[in-house]
Amino acid sequence: MDVLEAICSRRSIKKFKDDRIGADVLSSLLEAARVAPSGGNKQPREYVVVTERDSLEQLAACHPFSRWLSGASAGLVLLGDPAVGAYWLEDACVAGQNIWLACTGMGLGVAWSAIFQQEPVESARREGYVRGILGIPDRFRVVAILGIGLPDEVPVPKERRALSEVTHWEKFGLKQAGV
Ligand SMILES: Cc1cc2nc3c(=O)[nH]c(=O)nc-3n(C[C@H](O)[C@H](O)[C@H](O)COP(=O)(O)O)c2cc1C
Repeated sequence: MDVLEAICSRRSIKKFKDDRIGADVLSSLLEAARVAPSGGNKQPREYVVVTERDSLEQLAACHPFSRWLSGASAGLVLLGDPAVGAYWLEDACVAGQNIWLACTGMGLGVAWSAIFQQEPVESARREGYVRGILGIPDRFRVVAILGIGLPDEVPVPKERRALSEVTHWEKFGLKQAGV
């Protein structure tokens, strides 16, 4: 599968088969994250790999939109370290997208559970909850959890805004015919 095909066929997968994911596969996914770009190449991101069922079930209870995590074979928790780089949020997210696309290329399903929130009270609650379960030191921000497993569903592609709606040519508001 080439990169564009992976980008276009990627979906959020929230139903997984029971099969476990081998440590070698998880290592390949972590390598995809490791080589992701970062601001000033500071790489202010770390990962917690979670495969224990009990932990996945606890993480699934973090918020109403993460319940599907209980059925994942593994969770990859994306951490940002503000002491290492100011772009910790973007750098953790771009690593997450690398993992997502690598999974797509390998036939694995992924869904994203948002932990970091712009709203500070809910972010502190979610991040504190995940830190407590996994023993993550306070200095790390908890950005997201990627739930990974063999897909047990084939979701239809979700609607996207038209390119013509979101694209401006040369100056904001100028549209190019046919795009
Ligand atoms: C920053 C971000 C946060 C997201 N948070 C959640 C979440 O907490 N729970 C969830 O089920 N899906 C979450 N998603 C998945 C989106 O809902 C999903 O990507 C979107 O509906 C488009 O569907 P697709 O991924 O199948 O193309 C998140 C995605 C992103 C990029």
